[in-house]
Amino acid sequence: MKITVFNGSPRAEKGNTNIMVEAFLEGARASGAEAETVFLTHKKIHPCVGCYTCWLKTPGKCAIQDDMAELLPIMYASDIVVFATPVYVDNVSGITKNFMDRMIPVADPYFEKDAGGECRHKITSKVPKIMVISNCGFPEQSHFQVLKLLFKRIARNMSTELIAEIYRGGGAILSEKSFMLWFPLRHYKSLLRKAGGEVVKHGKISAELQEELGKPIIPEAQYIKSAEMYFKKELAKIGHK
Ligand SMILES: Cc1cc2nc3c(=O)[nH]c(=O)nc-3n(C[C@H](O)[C@H](O)[C@H](O)COP(=O)(O)O)c2cc1C
Repeated sequence: MKITVFNGSPRAEKGNTNIMVEAFLEGARASGAEAETVFLTHKKIHPCVGCYTCWLKTPGKCAIQDDMAELLPIMYASDIVVFATPVYVDNVSGITKNFMDRMIPVADPYFEKDAGGECRHKITSKVPKIMVISNCGFPEQSHFQVLKLLFKRIARNMSTELIAEIYRGGGAILSEKSFMLWFPLRHYKSLLRKAGGEVVKHGKISAELQEELGKPIIPEAQYIKSAEMYFKKELAKIGHK
């Protein structure tokens, strides 16, 4: 099984999203998957210009010559694609959105009705199953409501299955050095590894594990207090209150 992660955090290797991805992939690899992460910020991906060349002039091929030409074949060759993104302004990061816009060569212009009677474009390429890994700065899990709906729609648009979603509110804790060896953080990473194993073995995350993954790593009030202390300390360094 081939899993490809498209990580849309501008912080790439050093980001909180990647900390989640690494633990997840560790579990997936231990269960036999072949897995790689593509850091989108290291790639040249221009915004879609809406010229429809990929539909009407050179079907399946975009007019823009940049790194998307190598990324789409990687997607087609994967069994599972993971969209990994931080929450930016209640949505996916701009890098991720750019990447998703440039995926339109997977479809052709013709309309078809889905099972619910709603139109979508006909998918002409082999598309993988998809999943999501995301984190955000605020502590509540409710900050993922836009992403939850968005990826449900993306799976519908791509005529594929959204097999798993891992969302982590209070994501700043993941890279907080003083918490590295702290038991709750190590426990959370072990849950991510388990999720990687379950996705490879069963093609989904069990309801029990999903519930565990959604629990706060640190009590909300403690998270807010430590965030405030951090901002205060950083602003004091520049003489700002
Ligand atoms: C431009 C920008 C917008 C953000 N918007 C949100 C937001 O709407 N809600 C939220 O909870 N966190 C928001 N955040 C915080 C990030 O989601 C958070 O810092 C996350 O841990 C970053 O992940 P990364 O290290 O993988 O990039 C935002 C951060 C930036 C820079």
